[in-house]
Amino acid sequence: MSAPDPSKIQKFREHLHEEWTGHETVAAWRKWHDRIAIFTRGATEAILETAHLRPGSRVLDLASGVGDPALSIAAKVTPSGRVTATDLGPGMISLAEELARKKGLTNIEFREASAESLPFADESYDALTCRFGIMFFPDLPRALRECLRVLKPGGRAVFVAWGKKEQPFFTTTAGIILKHVPVPPPPPDPDGPSIFMFGERDRLRRSLEAAGFRNVHEEARIVNGHWAGPPEEYWEQFSEVAAPFRPLIAQLSPERMAQAKSEIFSGLQKFWNGKELNMPLEIIIGTGTRP
Ligand SMILES: C[S@@+](CC[C@H](N)C(=O)[O-])C[C@H]1O[C@@H](n2cnc3c(N)ncnc32)[C@H](O)[C@@H]1O
Repeated sequence: MSAPDPSKIQKFREHLHEEWTGHETVAAWRKWHDRIAIFTRGATEAILETAHLRPGSRVLDLASGVGDPALSIAAKVTPSGRVTATDLGPGMISLAEELARKKGLTNIEFREASAESLPFADESYDALTCRFGIMFFPDLPRALRECLRVLKPGGRAVFVAWGKKEQPFFTTTAGIILKHVPVPPPPPDPDGPSIFMFGERDRLRRSLEAAGFRNVHEEARIVNGHWAGPPEEYWEQFSEVAAPFRPLIAQLSPERMAQAKSEIFSGLQKFWNGKELNMPLEIIIGTGTRP
């Protein structure tokens, strides 16, 4: 990993904070969270399978958003295990807390926390999990050092990220929007966070090894994204929830938007069986242990 430039990192930090903690983002996740949980269930299953959780495990989930996978982990390690769910902003994490209460989970606590400076003592956790969050950490080496610090020796971390950009999750949605925007955005900074950064094979493995994790393993996996509704509804959700792409969508004139939407709906048809969408999703699973 190249040495991060502090002023660049600060810019990433401010941008990402605004993107993920803003009212619009939180409201969209409140509206769609139950459908998203089903759509991305394969990613949660990958975490449950690879985290090697045991009865009594103390688990830290980073960037929990509205509670995935923290709530599923709490249900799995109950009654003797405990989970700490964390997220950057109060909006997401208070919704996660509300959902846990509805599910009757009592072995989970909630904290606002940036992955870059975790408010937890050294060697507190047996396992650390993070689903679709690691791509947004402004200073990745610093966040990974924090992960190692709070894990007990021998403790295990599992990170799940999006795979390559050239997959239907992107090509049938934001990929089409990009072709229609009047001013295309510059390519993502190679040192900065970006949603498909770990689609580059071995990048997650190299990042974990460079941070000092042992027994590091990276796997690319295709899981089924199941959406129990029509393409139009799936797009409505994507356009509201996908914070990194909302500024692009906002650039389109009504005419360009109409054209882009018709291309999006025809691209999504391929995955529509008349009742539901089933889209192959490529995810990257990175695991490692603290020496
Ligand atoms: C795509 S959402 C994933 C949420 C959830 N884990 C899931 O899979 O549904 C990304 C989450 O990362 C959080 N996040 C972004 N940067 C972060 C940081 N530096 N530290 C902790 N969380 C962060 C955001 O607030 C957001 O909730």
